[in-house]
Amino acid sequence: MDRVTLSVIKADVGGFVGHSAVHDALKERARECLEAAGNLLVDFRVASVGDDLALIMTHQQGPDSPAVHELAWNTFVACTEVAKSLKLYGAGQDLLSDAFSGNVRGMGPGVAEMEIAERPSEPVVVFLADKTEPGAFNLPLFRIFADPFNTSGLVIDPKMHAGFRFEVMDVREKAVVTFELPEEMYDLLVFLGAPVRYCIRHIYSKELGEVAAAVSTQRLSLMAGRYVGKDDPVCLVRCQSGMPALGEVLEPFACPHLVAGWMRGSHVGPLMPCAVPQATPTRFDGPPRVVALGFQLAEGRLIGPQDLFADPAFDRARQQALEIADYMRRHGPFEPHRLHLEEMEYTTMPQVMKRLAGRFAPVE
Ligand code: 13P
Ligand code: 13P
Ligand code: MG
Ligand code: MG
Repeated sequence: MDRVTLSVIKADVGGFVGHSAVHDALKERARECLEAAGNLLVDFRVASVGDDLALIMTHQQGPDSPAVHELAWNTFVACTEVAKSLKLYGAGQDLLSDAFSGNVRGMGPGVAEMEIAERPSEPVVVFLADKTEPGAFNLPLFRIFADPFNTSGLVIDPKMHAGFRFEVMDVREKAVVTFELPEEMYDLLVFLGAPVRYCIRHIYSKELGEVAAAVSTQRLSLMAGRYVGKDDPVCLVRCQSGMPALGEVLEPFACPHLVAGWMRGSHVGPLMPCAVPQATPTRFDGPPRVVALGFQLAEGRLIGPQDLFADPAFDRARQQALEIADYMRRHGPFEPHRLHLEEMEYTTMPQVMKRLAGRFAPVE
């Protein structure tokens, strides 16, 4: 097989119960739709994290393929019908448009794609996160591809020693900028440290000249101009043989770092790595979750998944996430647990201000 494209397209088309999970009937319908696509796909898996339904597909149509995107869109529309019939919560939540127009980017679903020349062995990890935003992957991706204290391969593997190239998206201005690492590390960190606005979109290996990682960079809230749910992200990472080893790719998630999202998309909390059966966020609709599905590609076939965070070696990260969750929750509606005013998905500020306007007396 010459080149193969891995496309992961994910949307919340209805929650069971509330925003906590995807009902089996939706996953069943999604499988039927993808099965019916015949030769368009080489292989597929249907997965979920929290209330987000993920279509993991391999094909030879390249990224941004209208046929593959239309298939995903029609699948989400069909699943929305099932969600409506069961009166699931927020049926069709992430489908912002009534009609498909060639590409799902900008229409609501999150998309991460990479076209690769499959290596003799091609291990990939599909990360799916719920109750957070694409910038949540900035910190772990930086550690995987640029921090030698996480990834010793950057120091000792001749194929990684040259470093990686980071493509960062300014989601507000809809512009991308590329940084060469390690040379421009400090410049890169100026942006990555502000994950609400700047998100890693792609990472490339300098030595192999190949894509190494891809992240969905949609921002539903910016697209819709009103609250439509957090843009729960996906991230794809290639491993081994000139890419970081699988264990180097998973290692940063042993630290449950703080991300924006959680209840009403308006809070800060720890990103908890969890096994697929644990990915049902119900404590204050959280804490935010990430699952890691490992695959070996074989001529485009998806061998897997292996539920990578099921390893008890991540139990302590989960425990620590719960302790951080307790601590953050005690802040109630106060920042920095509650997001900064501009970043909140919900606010009553305009109404309250309008009612109280006359009571603000100027002071010297
Ligand atoms: P590769 O050189 O094949 O990436 O192997 C490295 C490794 O797996 C060490 O853990
Ligand atoms: P989702 O973005 O996962 O639908 O969650 C929305 C929400 O408001 C959770 O409290
Ligand atoms: Mg939802
Ligand atoms: Mg969600």
